[in-house]
Amino acid sequence: MTVVKNICCIGAGYVGGPTCAVLAYKSPDIKVTIVDLSEARIAAWNSDNLPIYEPGLDEVVFACRGKNLFFSTDVDAAIQEADLIFVSVNTPTKKSGMGAGMAADLAYVESATRRIAEVAKSPKIVVEKSTVPCRTAQSMRTILEANSTSEIHFDILSNPEFLAEGTAIKDLLNPDRVLIGALQTESGIEAQNALVDVYTHWVPKERVITTNLWSSELSKLAANAMLAQRISSINALSAICEATGADVDEVAFACGKDTRLGSKFLKASVGFGGSCFQKDILNLVYLSTQLNLPEVAAYWQQVVIMNEYQKKRFVRNIISTLFNTITNKKIAVLGFAFKKDTGDTRESAAITLIKDFIQENARVAIYDPKVEAEQIYMDLSEPGVVDTQKQLEKNIQICQSAYEAADDADAVVIVTEWDEFRDDQLDYEKIYAGMKKPAFLFDGRLLVNAAKLRQIGFKVSVIGKNELAGTA
Ligand code: UDX
Ligand code: UDX
Ligand code: ADP
Repeated sequence: MTVVKNICCIGAGYVGGPTCAVLAYKSPDIKVTIVDLSEARIAAWNSDNLPIYEPGLDEVVFACRGKNLFFSTDVDAAIQEADLIFVSVNTPTKKSGMGAGMAADLAYVESATRRIAEVAKSPKIVVEKSTVPCRTAQSMRTILEANSTSEIHFDILSNPEFLAEGTAIKDLLNPDRVLIGALQTESGIEAQNALVDVYTHWVPKERVITTNLWSSELSKLAANAMLAQRISSINALSAICEATGADVDEVAFACGKDTRLGSKFLKASVGFGGSCFQKDILNLVYLSTQLNLPEVAAYWQQVVIMNEYQKKRFVRNIISTLFNTITNKKIAVLGFAFKKDTGDTRESAAITLIKDFIQENARVAIYDPKVEAEQIYMDLSEPGVVDTQKQLEKNIQICQSAYEAADDADAVVIVTEWDEFRDDQLDYEKIYAGMKKPAFLFDGRLLVNAAKLRQIGFKVSVIGKNELAGTA
């Protein structure tokens, strides 16, 4: 029976960092070393100011850092010491070449795998943790086997991560399930059992699911595609609601009461973002196309098309409401992260919206409680369009509070559902007083009580509701 005593995690990002920190926290008998090529990232993990904002993460890291949890840039030493290695590197969508805009770029996975093959001096269990297209484990296996010797055997497992940002620590401490896929060979199953034993340090055994390698890889893409599909479904309905007077909250509530549907993930919004949904659906679309299943590809592609439509629709509504022009008008954008409780901006709807506002020559004032100004400038730069911070500074202003952003603004646009933007937390009377009149407010997150804000004087527009909703 293989017992894991020493774990290495390659990649200290949003997935590798929190996942392995919780693993160390719950397994004092296991030494966990998280490595990354980025010296700055590792320095931050070793400081008081961790590189990722995630509720509860500080407590977990500070409780075990220096005891059984280590952060290092010495990738080779950590690989050599470990019995089990998580590969948790980034897998962005390819920007050029075959499959550009669709397929995942596996260059980082490949280079981490090659490194393991080159420096390993003893047998290893190598665990695919990054979200990757189906059959990546097979490529990793081919690389490792081509480099293994009679003494050094590699087993490959797929152990996709299901944590959501903003609730990562909660999700990791109490997961709905842990999924571990392995080749159904004797040694594959032994490796699978070894990883099951690691998780059962804190996860009830019945929640640890074991499958074959391909089921595990496909389940991750499938789960994310179906979650995103629910959001595109409710967003498609939100357009019908606005056109008819049905209220999307009421529709979602009524549908969600059906236990076959369930109530979660039915919140209409300005569009889903994050590093996973779009990327994973595009992976699924690419896979379907490659498997010569065009109808399946088109079916999943539609989820992304609907998401883009939702963002465009929101912008169009803002422009038409502001008398068909936002040129030189000041738009206050509240929230830049792709959801609340994270500083992550990958694929955030805010980026698309603000780029459209800039194209229309509006002045945009942005406030987000957790996103750094530098990150905002980087996300809004576009080679060939708006290259530099200097150019951007003409159009955008980054603010320290919602009040500063809204000051003298023509419109306030709620893009991220941060609690501090709720109408019982933010002083909307004060916001209203500082704005140009009429003072427009667009709620892309169903966050505020529109009736209450209308009483203050705001002209309110909410996703999935028209002014008649609730009054007729
Ligand atoms: C997602 C999956 O939930 C997680 O299981 C997987 O491991 C990684 O991808 P994440 O992207 O971190 O997690 O956040 P999630 O909570 O799923 O939200 C994704 C996007 O959908 C956000 O922009 C969020 O605002 C949006 N969303 C979510 C909605 O618009 N409506 C909803 O009802 C739920
Ligand atoms: C449906 C709705 O369930 C019900 O709430 C509504 O009032 C009427 O329409 P019904 O058509 O009677 O009810 O049966 P349902 O159990 O929903 O099945 C519909 C079809 O879907 C059947 O052909 C069933 O075999 C199929 N189905 C259902 C699947 O193929 N897979 C499933 O997981 C569930
Ligand atoms: P995710 O959201 O999937 O965790 P991130 O981009 O946040 O993605 O993190 C991935 C991390 O992996 C980055 O910090 C990157 O520097 C690191 N990384 C990529 N390739 C390698 C490699 N070959 N060795 C070590 N670290 C790597």
